[in-house]
Amino acid sequence: MLPYLKKSQALAFLFALLLVPGTLLSPAKAQKATLPDCRYDDLDSKLQAYEDWRYTLLDTIYRLPESYIPPDLVSAAEAGLTKNYLLRSLIVEDLQEMLEAAVTAAAPLELQSAYRSYNYQARTFDYWVSQEGYVEALKSSARAGHSEHQLGTVLDFRSAGGRAPWDYKDWALTPAGEWLAENAWRYGFVMSYPKGKEEISCYIYEPWHYRYIGREAAAELKQSGLTLREWLWLKNN
Ligand code: DAL
Ligand code: ZN
Repeated sequence: MLPYLKKSQALAFLFALLLVPGTLLSPAKAQKATLPDCRYDDLDSKLQAYEDWRYTLLDTIYRLPESYIPPDLVSAAEAGLTKNYLLRSLIVEDLQEMLEAAVTAAAPLELQSAYRSYNYQARTFDYWVSQEGYVEALKSSARAGHSEHQLGTVLDFRSAGGRAPWDYKDWALTPAGEWLAENAWRYGFVMSYPKGKEEISCYIYEPWHYRYIGREAAAELKQSGLTLREWLWLKNN
């Protein structure tokens, strides 16, 4: 190739090809935008119709509007849980099966939190700010509009009869937390903020926070080895 160029000139030519837009690098670059760092922003999540629940990306950047209230919220009593919580009816069947399997495995579960409205999330975030200060609160609590709990498909669990899961050193080491970490995907639930992935998920490790994406998608996510945020980013871009 290019026999009339010296080796150093040929290398410079190839380097220039890599840098100039529209040449060698552009096909790969055009395919996928890179996952953004965990900055704080207020962009509208791209897929935010109620039927997009499986793929709606919410993080420290993307959010839902205040008016987003799922149309099919039902009491958690539908799934045999306390009536104080609301969740989308489309998760009830798989949730019920998962709860029954957990009881059979001597790892019974209870809810710590479920659907949270925009305004409820605003109060929740303010509570954590009052406890820990703004900078610390950002690491564990979403600002209003940014919480997956507003989808109605996200649940915080605790051990039946137990304390709040964040009061344990690592709730995933309790029988209920361990069983859930191992088996939730079989019922369509995935841990949004896993251990050691804080820089990607944008929040501290939360072994109690699970998002329902359906059995097929949960199996696909597990197989991919990606975090939920990475997987959603690919579905959104
Ligand atoms: N704790 C998670 C990040 C939330 O507030 O939704
Ligand atoms: Zn949660």
